[in-house]
Amino acid sequence: MIYQIKPVIGKKEKNNLIDYIKKDNWITEHKVTENFEKSFAKFTNSKYCICFPNGTITMSSVLDCLNLKKDDEVLVSNYTMVATANVVKFVGATVKLVDISKKDLCMSPDDLLKKINKKTKVVIYTQMNGRVGQIDSIKKICKKNKLVLIEDAAHAIGSYNKKIHVGNAGIAGSFSFSMPKLITMGQGGAVVTNNSELAKKLRLYKNFGRRKSGEDIHDYLGYNFKITDMQSMLAIGQLRSIKSRIKKKKEIFSRYQKNLKDNLKIKFFDMKKDETPWSVDIYLNSVNKLKKILEKKGIFTRYVYPPLNSQKIYKHIKNLPVSNFYCKKGLWLPSSLDLKNKDIDKICSIINKYIY
Ligand SMILES: Cc1ncc(COP(=O)(O)O)c(C=O)c1O
Repeated sequence: MIYQIKPVIGKKEKNNLIDYIKKDNWITEHKVTENFEKSFAKFTNSKYCICFPNGTITMSSVLDCLNLKKDDEVLVSNYTMVATANVVKFVGATVKLVDISKKDLCMSPDDLLKKINKKTKVVIYTQMNGRVGQIDSIKKICKKNKLVLIEDAAHAIGSYNKKIHVGNAGIAGSFSFSMPKLITMGQGGAVVTNNSELAKKLRLYKNFGRRKSGEDIHDYLGYNFKITDMQSMLAIGQLRSIKSRIKKKKEIFSRYQKNLKDNLKIKFFDMKKDETPWSVDIYLNSVNKLKKILEKKGIFTRYVYPPLNSQKIYKHIKNLPVSNFYCKKGLWLPSSLDLKNKDIDKICSIINKYIY
């Protein structure tokens, strides 16, 4: 059986966690998380990193700190996980969907320009499967129209735009450390930012609005969105081996692409040298047929995210032709970090046999 994706935790990382538990440590969010945050900030070249329980709360927390009002509009790509749009609803603002570009599957700057009006306040930009897309143009548009830019970089650990790690283009970058991500805590997430005021607000917000841990004086309204040092212990080891994780993901993607290059029914969207794919995504007409064939042989795939405007909550939003076309044809192929070359070759030969 080959899973679409499963977590791969090294022996050393597992042992570190066992050692941590054996000692009388604090368990809750403490020094290990502080160290992880410092290391992740260094890795992404950001001034601040603040951990959260997942990559959904990261975004809703940033939005909450921006004090949006009911009529304020937040623009989100139609091709992303539902969390990117739901967080807008949770803070009481209005979701507007933007179509994607045919070049890179990320938000289209042309469609973004069409959707901006006086109510627009924020853009959340998703780096789909680690693709940077046209973030430079998006950044310019946001600057010109005085919009706050947030990056949903849940898929994009290890992706760089002109040598700068994603997450630094706007006020904040959101990362997810859920099970299938390049670094996993089981569940977890982080916000990176270069804005000291936002970093300070987020720290208060995630800790009951408390002035100082160990004291019960609360100057602000806040939640409890802390994580545990056990999670950070797992993640810190993975961060140490991040270079090999990135290398392996790139190798997996290019091996699939090479093996399937002569198959005219399968469309790949290229990855640039500095982009790291989270998984391997292919696009084809007979996506249901391929999924079933592979499943019968014990090979598990997953449909890519359906377009947001095909979900009940966002069905009323129309006219998003590019995302409506591609999101219904996409499949994530097996992409775990321990996937063997011979398995990739086997999967590709099945695809080439049945899809032609
Ligand atoms: C693009 C994107 N944004 C946000 C999320 C939410 O992250 P989490 O599962 O950590 O809440 C995901 C999850 O896969 C995602 O793919």
